Amino acid sequence: MSDTSKTATLTIDGETYDLPIYSPTAGPDVIDIRKLYGSAGVFTYDPGFTSTAACDSTITFIDGGKGELLHRGYPIDQLASKSHYLEVCYLLLYGELPSAKELEHFETTITNHTMIHEQMHNFFRGFRRDAHPMATMVGVVGAMSAFYHDSTDISDERQREIASHRLIAKMPTIAAMAYKYSIGQPFVYPRNDLDYAANFLHMCFAVPAEEYVVNPIMARAMDRIFTLHADHEQNASTSTVRLASSSGANPFACIAAGIACLWGPAHGGANQACLEMLKEIGTPDRIPEYIARAKDKDDPFRLMGFGHRVYKNFDPRATVMKQSADEILDMLGVEDNPVLATAKELERAALADPYFAEKKLFPNVDFYSGIILEAMGFPTSMFTPIFALSRTVGWISQWKEQLADPQMKIGRPRQLYQGPTERDYVDIEKR
Ligand code: CMC
Repeated sequence: MSDTSKTATLTIDGETYDLPIYSPTAGPDVIDIRKLYGSAGVFTYDPGFTSTAACDSTITFIDGGKGELLHRGYPIDQLASKSHYLEVCYLLLYGELPSAKELEHFETTITNHTMIHEQMHNFFRGFRRDAHPMATMVGVVGAMSAFYHDSTDISDERQREIASHRLIAKMPTIAAMAYKYSIGQPFVYPRNDLDYAANFLHMCFAVPAEEYVVNPIMARAMDRIFTLHADHEQNASTSTVRLASSSGANPFACIAAGIACLWGPAHGGANQACLEMLKEIGTPDRIPEYIARAKDKDDPFRLMGFGHRVYKNFDPRATVMKQSADEILDMLGVEDNPVLATAKELERAALADPYFAEKKLFPNVDFYSGIILEAMGFPTSMFTPIFALSRTVGWISQWKEQLADPQMKIGRPRQLYQGPTERDYVDIEKR
């Protein structure tokens, strides 16, 4: 944050207040209102944080107008094509791309933490079989603080480090176990000879009765999905993690809070809704009907996988997802996938329509991801758990950044109170 020597002047009832303006390395300037209440006795009002920066960060930057997503300065399309998930994890956590030696050491560390405490299996068995895997994940990740006491002291930098590694390493194991439990199959232990994505596929799809060989193209596509979801600056679940952490809560409790927030359909659940919509449309000839519905103000229907609060251009993650969808379906020998054909024609028709152009509505990351995950064999209930495991590194990186920030304060928003003013209690017989 650098002082621009610019100030904003606010006038209230004839009194003027000068507010400092800071310039970021990229993105719009910010007006510092921290002293506003003390000097002017007013709050600012911004439900949904549409214009409010709640923290300093050096991790991820999005330029919604340009359709740009950078992690530590590196564009997401370059990371998705040239790097891989664990290298991106290192970049997000430590700020720089690792040397070959640093990467090897990091991969070994993560690999050594993939198993969960054996007694945690009992937690899974306590859930109903038909529990949603996200419900199971919220509970089990929260329960990690009851098992890993030696990494809950947030004032100890080494403990913070170990908690970070444990969460990144164990989340695929927990997500896969939640899935196996929901379909009544035995848990499959992690295999440390496999890479991160291949190990996850193995834990999800192997059974003890026969050998399961992970297809390398599937593993690459899985790794790409993890990479594309790794971080997305101050979104709802990340802000939830930061707010939970601001009270000094332990890392496992904070990440469980993030998982709970991600579960909502406006956040992590949109890819499931998009796939369901594409199936409902069924064939390209029905697209005009659905486009007309999306444009009709009296119809609540929206094109799922279209539009974004921040991106007013192509979501760069959607472009990579589309390529992956083609590759995966080619690899599986699916020549005429009706859902993919419908998706492509819907994208073409919407982009050619002035309504979507004027409102700057473009396909987002969720438009193609459900098609890929379904082709890989995942049920829709696993789409959000996969998002959660991918985003864990983003949550953890932002959590670590916040704890190291000397300006960190407990998060405590203000309110515009609209309720009754003080009044006397009325005894029950007089009401
Ligand atoms: N289909 C049709 N019209 C739309 C759509 C859509 N998908 N999205 C926005 N609009 C219209 C909306 O009706 C409004 O029109 P008007 O100005 O005439 O009232 C205008 O565009 C602005 O919409 P908004 O709801 O004010 O915009 P927002 O920034 O608050 O909402 C959004 C962003 C993502 C919630 C919204 O675009 C949407 O509901 N999209 C569909 C759901 C979806 O795909 N969500 C996944 C987001 S990406 C996942 C992630 O990064 O976490």
